[in-house]
Amino acid sequence: MAILKIAKMGHPVLREPASEVADPTAPEIRRLVEDMLETMADADGAGLAAPQVHVPLRVVIFHVPKSRDEENPNPVPLSVLINPVVEPLTEDTEVDWEGCLSVPGMIGAVPRYNKVRYRAVSLEGKPIDRVAEGFHARVAQHECDHLEGTLYPQRMEDLSLLMFRDQMRYHADGASEEAEKEE
Ligand code: NI
Repeated sequence: MAILKIAKMGHPVLREPASEVADPTAPEIRRLVEDMLETMADADGAGLAAPQVHVPLRVVIFHVPKSRDEENPNPVPLSVLINPVVEPLTEDTEVDWEGCLSVPGMIGAVPRYNKVRYRAVSLEGKPIDRVAEGFHARVAQHECDHLEGTLYPQRMEDLSLLMFRDQMRYHADGASEEAEKEE
């Protein structure tokens, strides 16, 4: 296991579409995921996509912090998705705060679909098919965007709400607590 270096906005690997994983059960994919899990934990992040660690493959990991999942009777497990595909299940969007480990120190208000379905393959080669709402839907959309070379500022409709985290105290809507994790 190893903590990997995280690419920052501006690095070409974050702008390019990632490639499909040919064999999700391959040992090198398991090693990559183990290193990504360690890297995410070390950075105290909510999610991480392989391009963020300079690997242009369609692999993402995420978890939903307990504080964002309190009312869910079926808590979202720590998720490892290989070759994920996200499909919106509604046209309704919600704007909420997001951070990204590749855009350190910043936070932005990003519209995302409220409800999505995502399909992927697990490390064991088994199909994953889930419906996600709220923060779960948001983090899945954020991570899968990384696989298309898209960072959250590109999704923003009001760039005046792209700001440094240490300025959040000027905003009285609780955004600093809401977005304590980066993705
Ligand atoms: Ni991110």
